[in-house]
Amino acid sequence: MKGKLVILIGPPAAGKSTWLYQFSGEVISTDDIRRQEFGVQFDQRIEPAVWHLAYERLEKAIRSGKDVCFDATNTTRNRRKPLIDIAKKYGVSVEGVVFLWELDVLIKRNRERPPGKKVPEEVIENKLQELEVPSYEEGFNKIEVFR
Ligand SMILES: Nc1ncnc2c1ncn2[C@@H]1O[C@H](COP(=O)(O)OP(=O)(O)OP(=O)(O)O)[C@@H](O)[C@H]1O
Ligand SMILES: [Mg+2]
Repeated sequence: MKGKLVILIGPPAAGKSTWLYQFSGEVISTDDIRRQEFGVQFDQRIEPAVWHLAYERLEKAIRSGKDVCFDATNTTRNRRKPLIDIAKKYGVSVEGVVFLWELDVLIKRNRERPPGKKVPEEVIENKLQELEVPSYEEGFNKIEVFR
């Protein structure tokens, strides 16, 4: 049996991980990998290893036939392409869930987060600026928008 791949798309503090509370499949989270495997919130030096592990886990989960959600900011087409490619390789349908909130909403939510979960505000600004809204041309079978 084939599952589906859900790709969450949005800057930090947009509500991606909150969306997961009602998702029952397997979750691949680059934040979880950073914390659980490397003991950091973020460190540029481990990024290649984090992504290598994330792609490996994604392919394994898709191959097993489960529904899978990839939880990262996934703000650019370049970031999404390898995920979509893996899904297509196994004939799995791909859903994009995109969170389109204004900067002031994101900053406010981030300020209300517990200390260990706060992200530098310039990171939120940069991620919001680089955000490329997903399109069906990328290979999505469905796109859902929250705003
Ligand atoms: N729709 C919403 N309305 C109000 N607050 C929300 C909403 N969605 C999420 N939040 C709150 O905003 C904060 C950030 O949400 P969340 O952790 O889901 O973001 P995220 O997109 O996963 O961020 P990151 O990329 O940093 O992991 C949390 O404190 C959460 O409770
Ligand atoms: Mg999150």
